[in-house]
Amino acid sequence: MNLLPAKARLRQSFEKAAPGYDNAAKVQRWVATRLVAGLPATLAPAVILDAGCGTGFAQEMLALRFPAARRIAVDFSAAMLSRIARPEFALAGDVERLPLRDAVAGLYWSNFTAQWCALDILLKEAHRVLWPNGALALSTPGAGTFRELAESFASIDHYSHTLPFTTTGTLQVAALRAGFENPLLHAEPCVLHYKDLKSLMRAIKSVGANQIAPGQRHPGLMGKTAWEKLEAAYETLRTPQGLPLTYEVILCYARKPS
Ligand SMILES: C[S@@+](CC[C@H](N)C(=O)[O-])C[C@H]1O[C@@H](n2cnc3c(N)ncnc32)[C@H](O)[C@@H]1O
Repeated sequence: MNLLPAKARLRQSFEKAAPGYDNAAKVQRWVATRLVAGLPATLAPAVILDAGCGTGFAQEMLALRFPAARRIAVDFSAAMLSRIARPEFALAGDVERLPLRDAVAGLYWSNFTAQWCALDILLKEAHRVLWPNGALALSTPGAGTFRELAESFASIDHYSHTLPFTTTGTLQVAALRAGFENPLLHAEPCVLHYKDLKSLMRAIKSVGANQIAPGQRHPGLMGKTAWEKLEAAYETLRTPQGLPLTYEVILCYARKPS
């Protein structure tokens, strides 16, 4: 069963989020710096593909690390693409069906986009567009992401309210199935704090789609009683820094066989 939101709706959410994205994307930025730090020291790609590039935050970092490389940035949101400061090649397209021929990139980079996609399809596309011996560097939120939200929602109903985030095991198997070798995975938590549930929900929404699974009750549409119950449940998790929100960050590195 496909538990992802419909693609047209997703794209629309990212179009809307684009103007405020750079101010809101704190976790995404932190993860991008972790992802670049873990790239193999010997890697020297001539062409880098940034799949689901958003406003192009990684572009500058990748240019610094690989000054001689050409960069291709792909995103299905034109509004996101239009915010890239100095795009080399910015292409509007779907990362599940890249508008690129086979074997064009030495590095396939994707930061916090895979959670919106069919993982098997995305990885097969990544494999297709990489040169032999090309490198994959991908980050995505793992199953521990938003655990406080899931726990609090569980006290008001029995729906799953968050996206079906992946696990290191699932991602590793999917990478092997797509034809990659030696996938290396690493997971670590990143916890943010908010003064109340409203600002926490707003922060989730401001980086794009709201990560609530389709066909299920959206917090914005909840009745007052259900919202108050949710707030009360979340309040039990409050720490001195505020209401916690965990992201389980998964980093995945692999190679296409030569
Ligand atoms: C959370 S943002 C991450 C953006 C960027 N990688 C970063 O690190 O800031 C996810 C991005 O993926 C894009 N996206 C989601 N699904 C996509 C798809 N199927 N094809 C192309 N872009 C997609 C969205 O438009 C959005 O810009």
